[in-house]
This record gives sequence, structure tokens and C-alpha cells, in this order.
Amino acid sequence: MSSDTLKQQAARFAVDLIESGMVIGLGSGSTVKFALAEIASRSHSRRIEGILGVPSSSETQRIARKLGLALTSLDEHPQPDINIDGADEVDPQLNLIKGGGGALLREKVLAQSSRRNVIIVDAGKLSQRLGDRWPLPVEVLPFASKSVERFLMSQGARVEIRHLADGRPLRTDQGNTIFDAHFGPIEDPEALAALLSARAGILANGLFIGLTDDLIVADHAGIRHLTRTDAPVFR
Ligand code: 5RP
Repeated sequence: MSSDTLKQQAARFAVDLIESGMVIGLGSGSTVKFALAEIASRSHSRRIEGILGVPSSSETQRIARKLGLALTSLDEHPQPDINIDGADEVDPQLNLIKGGGGALLREKVLAQSSRRNVIIVDAGKLSQRLGDRWPLPVEVLPFASKSVERFLMSQGARVEIRHLADGRPLRTDQGNTIFDAHFGPIEDPEALAALLSARAGILANGLFIGLTDDLIVADHAGIRHLTRTDAPVFR
């Protein structure tokens, strides 16, 4: 089974949790794209009606519009009923590293605002310790770039500025810079998240701690639906 098939299966399972009339946080990334297509297909065939989406990135907004989904803003609906998003790495406590697509700031705002957070992944994203396989994305105010880079290095990270394919530094939807901070395996994700959150100039870090309500994992054996109360959910 291809990785796309697995992503699509996880996405479909998550879309089953959507009910008519809901406001839905729409995450970003290739797995979420399958969810968007599924939501659009079910709304066009009226299996779900009257839903509104709050996109977490300009890319998700563009795709959702193209699919004909009705959109709204977080100002109009400050507490979405459900938020569906992907992740780069998931640990057994359902903590996450996110931001591979550079949309972590708005994704975190949606995750913290929504009633229920549903994360959709293929099994390749599961990890015993965050940082085992993915650097930590950090969104930084350009004014503070050098200062934050030094700070991250002082905390033991090797820091790379994220670039576009053409070599220009990536700018987020908010016009900020993304650093990929290579900490290696993170012993205490909660403490690191608190440290980074306290540093002015860091606008968001990719550690999503205690925010996942449901984790939908697709692998070759089928779908696993894990909830926070089950944690630790895999070994
Ligand atoms: C974007 C994200 C994505 O959810 C994450 O990178 C996973 O993406 P994909 O589904 O393409 O593997 O955090 O900022």
C-alpha cells in the first residue's frame, strides 16, 4: 500500500467525525489535502451539510476554495468544533512535532482554540522520542533572527534556516523565518516547549504538547484510533 493510500485512509476516518453544521479547523500538508478532498466530496453529495472551514495556511485556503468548501475566519468562529491536521512526528503520549510545511503558528492557534483535535498520520510518523527523526521547526521574527539562532545553539541545537527550492529563505504566511533546530532526541519536550515559548522573537515552536485528542494512524494492518486517555498509546 502506498503512503498516499495510507494518508487517504486516515483522512477518511477523521472526516467520519465531522457532523453537519460544524466549524472545522483545516490543517496543512499532504495528509490534510486528502481530508479536504473527502470533506468536499461529502458536502457536494450532501452527506454533510452546512459546514465551515478555518484554513491554517494560504495553501490550505487555496485548495479549499478550489474544492468549493465554504470558509470562515477564527474571528467569526473563535472555537471550531473540530480541527483536523497532520504531524511530522508523534510520540507515545501523543505529543507532536509539527511545522514541516511551515504553517506551525496558525496550526497551533487552531489546535489551542478548537474543541477537539484530530491528528491524521501514517505509521511512519510514530516515534519513541520526539526529535528522533525530525528537527524542530521554529518560526522566528526576522528582526530577532541572529539572536534566536544564538539562543537555540546555546541550548544545544544545530540550526538551519529553511530555504525554498530556488535558494531564497522561506517566508511564512506571516512573513517570518523558519529555523529547523536539530536538537536530536528531546528528553523533556514539555520543558523545551516552555523554554522556547518564553523567548521573545520565537513566535511558535513545533512542539504540540497535550493538544491531541484523537490520533488516527493508518498502516498496512488498517486504522488505529487512539485517544489521549489511552496514553502511552504505543511502545
Ligand atoms: C505543516 C505541518 C504538517 O501537518 C506536517 O508537516 C505533516 O505534513 P504531511 O501530511 O505532508 O506529512 O505541520 O506545517
